[in-house]
Amino acid sequence: MSGAPVVDVKGLWTVYGDLVVHRDLDFSVMPGEVVSLVGGSGSGKTTLLRQILGLERPHRGSIRVFGVPLHTCDPGLFKKIRKRWGVLFQHGALYSALSVFDNIALPLRELHAFDADFIRDIVMVKLDAVGMDKRHASTMPADLSGGMIKRVALARALVLEPELVFLDEPTAGLDPDRSEAFVKLVRDLHIKLNFTVVMATHDLDTMVSVSDRIAVLADQKVVVCGRLDEVVRYDHPFIRDFFLGERGRRALSAAPALQTN
Ligand SMILES: Nc1ncnc2c1ncn2[C@@H]1O[C@H](COP(=O)(O)OP(=O)(O)OP(=O)(O)O)[C@@H](O)[C@H]1O
Ligand SMILES: [Mg+2]
Repeated sequence: MSGAPVVDVKGLWTVYGDLVVHRDLDFSVMPGEVVSLVGGSGSGKTTLLRQILGLERPHRGSIRVFGVPLHTCDPGLFKKIRKRWGVLFQHGALYSALSVFDNIALPLRELHAFDADFIRDIVMVKLDAVGMDKRHASTMPADLSGGMIKRVALARALVLEPELVFLDEPTAGLDPDRSEAFVKLVRDLHIKLNFTVVMATHDLDTMVSVSDRIAVLADQKVVVCGRLDEVVRYDHPFIRDFFLGERGRRALSAAPALQTN
């Protein structure tokens, strides 16, 4: 991993009334990395992603994506930068009134730059890339399984060929087999398309199998960000509970990064 960070957050404060969610938080991601963001429920993972995506303005601190200070740059530049990332949101992954096809086509149509044939071709390629049969193009989200919804949402996140992909709890609500299949899909696409991934997750198995580095959000900041073996050695109550409890030990026993140490 070399070059300038793709995401660079410095001294971030996020404050809602009396609630301080982030206090002087630093976080950065290098090109090509898969970085997982872990932390208890309510620790501020989704909020951090929303800040990085420019959906909320920080109380204090700076956020640069692709080197651009998102919250102070001009709207034209922000629009350009936005096209370089794709997002799979934690909730409301798909528009329920739109078919699978129209959900995936939406980011392309919003650009007003492509004709219908081109859009159809791209949508079909993306459906195929996420392992969905083409006959599901006309299906409505209500008629899809949980795993399929995640796949379609991933196809939509990838439709503009992003350099950077944000995944917020991508395997939440999936059974272990579907989670594993989804993680394998993300890993394969990451290798093939070489994008950078920032992923918030509770799912230890997901994180262990796919991350280059893990950032632990606790005490309103990123307390440690490093390889799995570095993170588990860091002494913190959240890390002890999360990684070194019974479930954690099981997931870690399958982790190559630890077996070699
Ligand atoms: N717009 C808002 N106004 C007030 N409080 C908010 C707002 N958005 C988030 N919060 C609060 O910020 C805190 C962090 O929320 P966030 O959704 O980022 O947590 P999380 O780590 O993603 O949790 P989970 O693992 O459950 O998804 C929570 O206490 C939440 O209630
Ligand atoms: Mg969240």
